[in-house]
Amino acid sequence: MRLKPVFLQITFNHNMMIPKVQLSPLATDTLKGLSANKKYLLSKYFYDDMGSRIFQDIMHMPEYYLTDCEFEIFKNQKQEIIAAMAKDTVHFELVELGSGDGLKTKILLNALVSSGFNFKYIPVDISKNANDELETSLAALLPSLEVKPETGDFFKVMNHLNGYSGLHKIIFFLGSNIGNFSDTELDFFFNHLAKYARKGDKVMIGFDLKKSPNIIMNAYNDPHGHTRNFNFNHLARLNRELDANFDLHNFEQYSSYNPHTGIVKSHLISLKNQVVQIETLEREFYFKQWETIFMEISRKFDLETIESLAIKYGFEVENHFVDSQKYFTDSLWVKVK
Ligand code: AVJ
Repeated sequence: MRLKPVFLQITFNHNMMIPKVQLSPLATDTLKGLSANKKYLLSKYFYDDMGSRIFQDIMHMPEYYLTDCEFEIFKNQKQEIIAAMAKDTVHFELVELGSGDGLKTKILLNALVSSGFNFKYIPVDISKNANDELETSLAALLPSLEVKPETGDFFKVMNHLNGYSGLHKIIFFLGSNIGNFSDTELDFFFNHLAKYARKGDKVMIGFDLKKSPNIIMNAYNDPHGHTRNFNFNHLARLNRELDANFDLHNFEQYSSYNPHTGIVKSHLISLKNQVVQIETLEREFYFKQWETIFMEISRKFDLETIESLAIKYGFEVENHFVDSQKYFTDSLWVKVK
């Protein structure tokens, strides 16, 4: 029997920061982020129902090559992928972290079901709406498939799924979601994953690869304005949910790519000196002209880095499934320890 890990939550109580009532995670993180010396907001809060819809607009635009590449990999290599996934396992649980609309996963689900594999699909997403829609569409598309969606933060859900059944697990973390993690978060994520997966369990992770900076910049500074809307929706969400009064006209969105580190960074920039009230936090925040709010990173990898990550956390790379342009890889790892 495996024990569930216990996490201690340590809270730093700055005198000024003691809230009168229990704040939601969004409120707590926003307070922390906007009180910091270098202001930031957390990228996981992009994905309220509106944000998840805007992200679909991003995925549908031609400049956002990531989705098309992963789609191509799944479409053209589905037989190889499912053969490799299920090489030593007939019964398994397929857990997908950050499943969203499941558009790409459906290709593999379809192939797995029609090849007669016996598995349960557990999509995990922070958006309840996305989960409900996925469940409904799968019921129509693949009625025989057992689907058990979980709504919430990956880490919380992973803990509670731990020891869920005796079955082998295959864990999907697709679409370069991993690219959003800082160094610390990467380490935290892989440590968790390494504890959650047992020897023989597999993970498939979608990594965006380094490539011409111009191609990358087009995907994150798109002419349609979806990326800007996506970032602005974070402020609009704070207006909706925390009674804030951000005036979106007073901000500009800016992304930049550093080909050396492979990191795209997105910022919102204050166009003037301004004060924003956030009622729920009972606080005002000052923004100087040209001050930045750091919104997210989108990291690009190379195959060597991916291989050393696998080894570092007790996995081995079984296959790198790469698209025809070598822009993206879905990397299949097996837990060896
Ligand atoms: C969902 C994290 C993969 O970083 O490419 C897209 C989010 N942000 N455009 C990415 C995003 C701006 C996306 N991920």
